[in-house]
Amino acid sequence: MKTNVVLVGFMGTGKSSLGRTLARRLGYRFIDTDLAIEKITGLTVEMIFRRHGVIRFRSEETLLAKRLLGKTGLVISTGGGMLLNKENVELLRQNGVLIGLRADPEIIINRVKNKKHRPLLKKTNIRETVYRLLREREGVYDAAEFTVDTGQLPFEASLNEIIKYLKDRPS
Ligand code: S3P
Repeated sequence: MKTNVVLVGFMGTGKSSLGRTLARRLGYRFIDTDLAIEKITGLTVEMIFRRHGVIRFRSEETLLAKRLLGKTGLVISTGGGMLLNKENVELLRQNGVLIGLRADPEIIINRVKNKKHRPLLKKTNIRETVYRLLREREGVYDAAEFTVDTGQLPFEASLNEIIKYLKDRPS
């Protein structure tokens, strides 16, 4: 049975773009949890936050993690807050290898500053918000069993690191 590969990490660490290519390379199906939640609810992430609040969004994430329990052969790119709920960590671990992506704060800020779709960064001082959230989330992404620094490595090298890890990993 093919285990899922679950990419975790803060916003702007490259989960969606790396995940998409990784899935193609492995011959797995790709799922982005933000996009899946949008499809299920018929609302954009931004609308969910605005109309129903962050708690509702977090419960959609847990519902989705439960739905994914029965599926294998997926590369799953998670939203940056997915691991805030320990239950999600346990759910995703049941049939998935958690791979962490990280980058230094200034690199993250550079990557996210001109993207307008992230509700947590909207109408805020992006630098302050990123530093604050990183502080609040310290240790959260350590749930990953292997982590790649996408600020240090170019896209292709990050991808190869992950593929090599998955290949060498005792199953
Ligand atoms: C969030 C990250 C976003 C998205 C939502 C909340 C977070 O996903 O799930 O805006 O709490 O870090 P990305 O990490 O793909 O930006």
